[in-house]
Amino acid sequence: MWKKSELLQKVKDVIKKDPFMIQDTVAVLTQVSYREVRLDEIKSLQAIQKAVYQDRSSWSRYAFLAELNGNKPIKYIVADYRGTIIGFGGIRIEDSNAHITNLAVLPDYQGNGIGSNLLEQLLVFAENCEVQTLSLEVRTSNDKAQRLYKTIGFNVTKTEPNYYRDGEDAYFMRLDKRVQGE
Ligand SMILES: CC(C)(COP(=O)(O)OP(=O)(O)OC[C@H]1O[C@@H](n2cnc3c(N)ncnc32)[C@H](O)[C@@H]1OP(=O)(O)O)[C@@H](O)C(=O)NCCC(=O)NCCS
Repeated sequence: MWKKSELLQKVKDVIKKDPFMIQDTVAVLTQVSYREVRLDEIKSLQAIQKAVYQDRSSWSRYAFLAELNGNKPIKYIVADYRGTIIGFGGIRIEDSNAHITNLAVLPDYQGNGIGSNLLEQLLVFAENCEVQTLSLEVRTSNDKAQRLYKTIGFNVTKTEPNYYRDGEDAYFMRLDKRVQGE
């Protein structure tokens, strides 16, 4: 979660950008709670994927069930705004690596720090699992997500050609904790 001072700075940034946005932004920031997903909420996760990816990268119900019931340690966190799931993030531990499998926030709620908050909680889980590296794939065209990942230390290590169903390439991004700590 954002610390109080960070929250205040965010509010100040918003006032500078657009004074009329302030009420909406504060309302969202203060009323979002974060918790683990329940198995009966898979439909909400699919709805968010549909809204952000227009079905280009959505997971089937079976894929979510396999992930949530699999034998690898996972953490799936949802952002809940007044009883509605507006974003979620997921991470899977694979030996000494933690792989970020999902991060998505409904378009109307983006730009409020919710994606960063979800990411932060996934990183705390990875930290508790004592992994050495973190990894993820992201569309080469997805500048916004890449910026977010770079701010916390991820670097592009390779390009995976035709990674997505529609033929787009993926950047494979990695954060090495040993390098980060030096
Ligand atoms: C990537 C994604 C999850 C980010 O979620 P988000 O909630 O918008 O993320 P944040 O609000 O934490 O940060 C996004 C931007 O808002 C800015 N921001 C954060 N809090 C803010 C606030 N209170 N007021 C204004 N701007 C703010 C951040 O600085 C950041 O700016 P930048 O894009 O210029 O770098 C979201 O864009 C998304 O769902 N995209 C589609 C799915 C996707 O691409 N997922 C990643 C797959 S690898």
